[in-house]
Amino acid sequence: MNDTPDQKPITIRAARPSDAAALNAYVRAIYTEGTGMITRPGEFRASTLRQRFWLARKGVNPDETCLLAFEDDTIVGMLECWTDKRQRVRHSTTIAMSVHAGFRKRGIGKKLLLHFADWVQKHARLERIELHVHADNLAALALYRSIGFVLEGTRRGVIRYEDGTVTDDHIMAFWPKNDKMTPPRGH
Ligand SMILES: CC(C)(COP(=O)(O)OP(=O)(O)OC[C@H]1O[C@@H](n2cnc3c(N)ncnc32)[C@H](O)[C@@H]1OP(=O)(O)O)[C@@H](O)C(=O)NCCC(=O)NCCS
Repeated sequence: MNDTPDQKPITIRAARPSDAAALNAYVRAIYTEGTGMITRPGEFRASTLRQRFWLARKGVNPDETCLLAFEDDTIVGMLECWTDKRQRVRHSTTIAMSVHAGFRKRGIGKKLLLHFADWVQKHARLERIELHVHADNLAALALYRSIGFVLEGTRRGVIRYEDGTVTDDHIMAFWPKNDKMTPPRGH
């Protein structure tokens, strides 16, 4: 699963505005392949300039990040989070992630997620990580469960594929500082 002697090491760092063009190409490839994604390639219209602004804003927002995994100088994985600014929900952040099709099952997804969980643990306010995952995305479900994400709810039949078949959308969450977790009201 993890890097073996014949595989090059994977490094992870926060994205910079100068990654915009490479990130656009990476994201387009992920949408074209389509596994586990809602957005279709024709629906992704971010220019390099727009992506550059987006990355610059992420870089100065203390409650958000975009992590990239690299093999040499090539982006092979991505994890981004976004956080509602409103006071009652700003302890919770939502993520989306992917690994390039040619680099899966090498532990890169887990490495990205553990790196991110560590970032959340060090964050003064963030406590809860939320994500949405297609119910038929067995690879992603295995990864999230292995970290400790639990199923919180399901939107039935909300994803309809081009051939007309449907699948559910699972909402999962993980509290990396669970020793400090406040029991939710009503539980
Ligand atoms: C989901 C995804 C990010 C996983 O990335 P990855 O780098 O292949 O995952 P890892 O190699 O780190 O594997 C992590 C765990 O998940 C399991 N896993 C990964 N792929 C799997 C598969 N196809 N079937 C079953 N389990 C799988 C591994 O066994 C591993 O568990 P372990 O560490 O306990 O052995 C990747 O498959 C992907 O990018 N898919 C397309 C985009 C996508 O679905 N994104 C998520 C949207 S919610």
